[in-house]
Amino acid sequence: MQTMLQLLPAEIESPSAVKGVAWTIPAVTIRDEPRLAYRGFMQDICRHFVDKESLKKQLDILAMYKINKFHWHLTDDQGWRIEIKKYPGLTQISSRRMEGEGYEYGPYFYTQEEVKEIVAYAKERFIEVIPEIEMPGHAVAALTAYPEFSCTGGPLQVRNLWGISSDIFCAGNDDTFGFLTDILDEVIPLFESEYFHIGGDEAPKLRWESCPKCQKRIKQLGLRADDEFSAEEKLQSYFVNRLEKHLISRGRKLIGWDETLEGGLAPSATVMSWRGEKGGIKSANMGHDAIMTPNDWLYLDNYQGDRKILPACNRRDITLAKTYSYNPMPEAIEADKKHHIIGVQANSWAEYMYNVDIVQWCVHPMLLALSEVACTRLENKDYSDFERRMDNQRVRLDMHGINYYVPVPQDRGKPSCNRMLFTDVITIDLETTEPMKIVYTTNGRDPGPKSKEYTVPLTFTANTTFKARSITAGGRMGDIRTIEIVRSDAYKPATATTGQGLEAAYYPG
Ligand code: ACM
Ligand code: ZN
Repeated sequence: MQTMLQLLPAEIESPSAVKGVAWTIPAVTIRDEPRLAYRGFMQDICRHFVDKESLKKQLDILAMYKINKFHWHLTDDQGWRIEIKKYPGLTQISSRRMEGEGYEYGPYFYTQEEVKEIVAYAKERFIEVIPEIEMPGHAVAALTAYPEFSCTGGPLQVRNLWGISSDIFCAGNDDTFGFLTDILDEVIPLFESEYFHIGGDEAPKLRWESCPKCQKRIKQLGLRADDEFSAEEKLQSYFVNRLEKHLISRGRKLIGWDETLEGGLAPSATVMSWRGEKGGIKSANMGHDAIMTPNDWLYLDNYQGDRKILPACNRRDITLAKTYSYNPMPEAIEADKKHHIIGVQANSWAEYMYNVDIVQWCVHPMLLALSEVACTRLENKDYSDFERRMDNQRVRLDMHGINYYVPVPQDRGKPSCNRMLFTDVITIDLETTEPMKIVYTTNGRDPGPKSKEYTVPLTFTANTTFKARSITAGGRMGDIRTIEIVRSDAYKPATATTGQGLEAAYYPG
């Protein structure tokens, strides 16, 4: 059905926009089959929350793109976002944090009824929702309300900084497992997915190394460091194995991030390879299923254009072309093991996504590239053809009222600069990451559809405020870039107001 909709004019996405648009499709036979079975999108709603109605809108778009798994990252250090009736502290305490600026973020969470509503909404669109409850790391929010399940006993505070915490669930305390299996038993019935994600990433072993309970467990189990893994890494393997058994008894299959390979992989675990492709290759060659979600291609919290002129994102530069180019079938996987790569997933980590508008700006149109990575056989992939089809696809996003990245005019072949000094003459030479019409003004006004079109490099010999922006074929205007062109003898250095504290900034992922 989605394929048929793609043959209809983009404008039919909105009932109010159909005037004058012919509702016809060519006579064709549709034979459509995706390259990969698992086509996923992960959304972190812990660092910054996304309301239920916005999630539904996102699910509509996923369905359009034939992305059939929605991985819902529900818990993290910075917030616990799902109601657990047996442990009310998780919503009363763990769902809020004090920000450094002195205001409270939250409480934000989904009730169990809301979770069921989202799962049902996704199911109507042939999307399976996979929950993730993080353990043993990324658990500070939970441990703030229930410090008795940490190694130190607390007290802890829901984190207001990004990054990795040393405070994780105590693996030596049987009550920790009681707590976690109680939670799983409340979460599992809300979802119909075959899979359950238990996280497993970024869990430092510092506390376990000095915790008497954890060390006692290591001794009892006879865990010993070897050339490959420490005793504590093997303790994490024990931890994950114990939860895997519980999930299997409830009819679910465990997914973990690639760190779950460390210390020995649980017998039936599926691995999500995020630190590059190594974890996926290793898992597949071991005969385990894997999902490729490497951070260099499929992390959607990065810069889609020149970072010098864009709002803060994560530390990588990942353009639409780069994401499109990803091939999730590395040579290093043995021929008879390739079927273990069951799919791909793009991840949207929300450290820098302060609101839904920014989430959409980061993940669109990148999700279209993901869709082709997941759906299109390698021999049929063609980036220039994809680029040509983007004009139509942007209109579809417009019709759904979805924000997306419109390439900002950037300096050709060098880092962009919004304050340009000259002595005699200066040339402005612009490019965009995708073919785009650029309009500009030199009189300080905001450029609009009727402004002059930029087609060739421009030269300037006087102080000028130059403003430029892209306009999509469908008429959507991108963000304005303002360049102050200043004769150098008139230049007074501005007081530095940026760049301070950058060394201390944390870059996730
Ligand atoms: C991850 O990005 N920490 C899975
Ligand atoms: Zn411990």
